[in-house]
Amino acid sequence: MSVLKLYEYPDEVLRQKCVRVSKVDDELRRFLDDMLETMYVDKGCGLAAPQVGITKRIIVLDPNPSDEDLSLRRPMYLVNPEIIWKSEETVLFNEGCLSLPDQRAEVERYEKVRVRYIDYNGQEQEILADDLLAIILQHEIDHLDGILYIDHLSRLKRTRLLHKLAKFREGKAEKKE
Ligand code: NI
Repeated sequence: MSVLKLYEYPDEVLRQKCVRVSKVDDELRRFLDDMLETMYVDKGCGLAAPQVGITKRIIVLDPNPSDEDLSLRRPMYLVNPEIIWKSEETVLFNEGCLSLPDQRAEVERYEKVRVRYIDYNGQEQEILADDLLAIILQHEIDHLDGILYIDHLSRLKRTRLLHKLAKFREGKAEKKE
């Protein structure tokens, strides 16, 4: 397995509408493994293919990406995921994204979603998700349509967050010098 390069805001690849995958074969499974490895190394709980520069409808996630106890890990691979039902109730959740490092903001999401997808073995699956899993699914599926969580914020909140991101990057650049 190898760790893939992560693309960050404002890279254009994050704004592309991703294309459906036609078949799950060994080559795709290798990519799924690499995506998961990348997600764990970067300490995320979800990763979408455009974040590693590939504009295909693929996400990986793990609501509990534990480093201490690997047996607690529950990785999921979703190819062509689609939200086929959503609850009327919504919840606010403080989200972050590996493509906007060190930032978080509250986003309104559906409390529950039902998602149809193709799994690691090429089988069609459906899952009814709530809690953190429902949030991650909505966040990652958004990525496949070029949508970032900051797009759900008010203009003022988004501007503030992007300002903080710029500051964070300046700080990191200074440390390197
Ligand atoms: Ni994200």
